[in-house]
Amino acid sequence: MKTHPTFGVVLPAAGSGTRFGSGDKLLMDLAGQTVLERSLALFVSRENVQKIVIVTSPDRFEPYRRQLPAMIASERLAFVAGGRERWESVLFGLRHLAQLKNPPTFVAVHDAARPLTPPSVIDQAFRTTESHGAALPCVAEPATLKKTAPDNSVSETVDRRGLFQAQTPQCFGLAKLLSGYETLLAAGQIADVTDDAQVFERIGERVIITPGDSLNMKITTAGDLALARAIFTHGSAPA
Ligand code: CTP
Ligand code: MG
Repeated sequence: MKTHPTFGVVLPAAGSGTRFGSGDKLLMDLAGQTVLERSLALFVSRENVQKIVIVTSPDRFEPYRRQLPAMIASERLAFVAGGRERWESVLFGLRHLAQLKNPPTFVAVHDAARPLTPPSVIDQAFRTTESHGAALPCVAEPATLKKTAPDNSVSETVDRRGLFQAQTPQCFGLAKLLSGYETLLAAGQIADVTDDAQVFERIGERVIITPGDSLNMKITTAGDLALARAIFTHGSAPA
């Protein structure tokens, strides 16, 4: 019998939410569920998702576990201690997946602070990963972009053609992404890595851009949470 390739999901959730302000942004209510629950729910019902790893500080394991409903069988969920930077948290999550008895073929890394991802964004990222080995959901940069001079005046307008905003879930072959992380770590080239596609770029692997969505926002500030709540109130968010 032909078996379908499986995905592991790493949800980096170990940040301190400095720009959000007071309170844990992942535990904030978003139309009846917390941000974390909604991010988790994006993957739970997918049958090709074998394991979901929540990476956070050990003192948050229990509070996070308690508020997750019984929507996920415990053997599909793991809690792993996070790191000081996002890249380190992701690395710890990848190492956890790789040491499983049957590691998944692919991994999707998804910010726990990104609860509104439309299912079609994930569908397309997963499909492209299965066919091409890696996928990066993006939206074309919509803004007019400026560069500034040291005196805070405008020095130039940047051509936005070919510029994209990277989103998550970013998806890769698990073994290849982990080996990329370990290679860059050993070479001292990991400290400025802010997303996972950057690891593939640095090791010379191809990442295919797939459609992102402007609704696929990351909750960074309190204003982002207010916006996310408004999206739900007005009924345009994915179910
Ligand atoms: N993250 C992580 N480990 C870190 C830092 C960040 O797992 N050491 C996670 C966050 O929990 C979040 C995602 O990476 O889900 C994206 O990070 P960001 O939105 O920057 O969240 P925070 O780092 O928590 O916020 P801030 O930068 O404002 O402190
Ligand atoms: Mg951060």
